[in-house]
Amino acid sequence: MLRRLLLKAIACIVMLQPLLASAAAQTPGERQFQRCINCHQIGPSARHGFGPSLTGVMGRQSGSASGYSYSSAMKNSKIVWDEKTLSAFLKNPDGVVPGTRMRLWGYNDDQQIRDLIAYLKSYPAPASR
Ligand code: HEC
Repeated sequence: MLRRLLLKAIACIVMLQPLLASAAAQTPGERQFQRCINCHQIGPSARHGFGPSLTGVMGRQSGSASGYSYSSAMKNSKIVWDEKTLSAFLKNPDGVVPGTRMRLWGYNDDQQIRDLIAYLKSYPAPASR
């Protein structure tokens, strides 16, 4: 009985979590990043997950974060991520990097993408020591 209640409580928390996460998001860019968090982390302690860490991604050459195993499509694409290349990639990942493992559909709103890119820029690569 107690166990069942406990399981229900846990299920509730799990269901509420996406809601809580989006409510906690402050800036428009942070809200946009909710589309990416299933696969990407960002920030000083970001790790690679299903997708590479996006800390310092702006200005970085595609497929170059150390320790992440990219598709050969991404490794060989030789793109530098800036406003133009990244917004084209987000609108159509497979069109810009044919064969990429990243899947994202229906992201076409220029303003939302600008907000997102501003957010990504606020996490530059850590200064090299
Ligand atoms: C379903 C999982 C998934 C989602 C959602 C996703 N990505 Fe990705 N992303 C990936 C994977 C996997 C790769 C590596 C692709 C490869 O190696 O072909 C990647 C690669 C990238 C790259 C290239 C990184 C580099 O180091 O060259 C960028 C930039 C990127 N994603 C940005 C985003 C942004 C911004 C969002 C949110 C709008 C997003 N992704 C959403 C899985 C995802």
